[in-house]
Amino acid sequence: MNSWPKAAIMNKDIFSGDEAFDSLYSLRARQLSAIHWTPMEIAKKAGAFLCADGGKHILDIGSGVGKFCIIAAHFNNDFVFHGIEQRKSLTDEALIAQKATNTGNVNFIQGNFNNLRMEEFDHFYFYNSFMENLDYHIPIDNLIPTSAEIYTEYLQTFQDVLEDRKPGTRLATYHADEHYIPGSYKKINHRPGNPLILWIKNS
Ligand SMILES: C[S@@+](CC[C@H](N)C(=O)[O-])C[C@H]1O[C@@H](n2cnc3c(N)ncnc32)[C@H](O)[C@@H]1O
Repeated sequence: MNSWPKAAIMNKDIFSGDEAFDSLYSLRARQLSAIHWTPMEIAKKAGAFLCADGGKHILDIGSGVGKFCIIAAHFNNDFVFHGIEQRKSLTDEALIAQKATNTGNVNFIQGNFNNLRMEEFDHFYFYNSFMENLDYHIPIDNLIPTSAEIYTEYLQTFQDVLEDRKPGTRLATYHADEHYIPGSYKKINHRPGNPLILWIKNS
């Protein structure tokens, strides 16, 4: 049986909440949403922060089915949200959702983030994307090799990218260990326990 949403769901306000938005996706992607994709309210807050101080191009490192990018782009029309995703099946879902929502200011790229030219992006979003290499609880799939070595390699590349950025670079992390982030980034108005952390590079 086809598990894709029918055209009728487009009559709802897709951006009204998580349930409506997730109806854009396949059954499998909907089942993964609560664990693997950014909730609507988080995407709105992180998107607003990343768009608040110049710099037009924002990159989601590990964009999944595109939920963060599409929501943030919808609420921030003057900015371009790029998503890099290693799994083709997820990028395909992201492209379907982009088309269904008619969101023009989103650019999905299929591939590994460590092959991207990072200088093209001004600010970054990161939902703990490399953790699947260490934690196998409800994986997205078992089609990607995972290991502690891969985790260490990706984390090092990510940290090098952040270190290379100019002062003023903004970063939003969600459910990511704050010790990942280089000391040159300062937390903005963070309440302890909040899984969304907003950062600005100082030096
Ligand atoms: C926790 S999900 C977040 C998805 C999306 N950012 C969101 O918030 O809705 C992390 C995603 O990162 C992807 N990913 C992990 N390592 C990656 C890499 N090295 N390059 C590109 N994508 C990667 C995974 O395939 C997964 O889809």
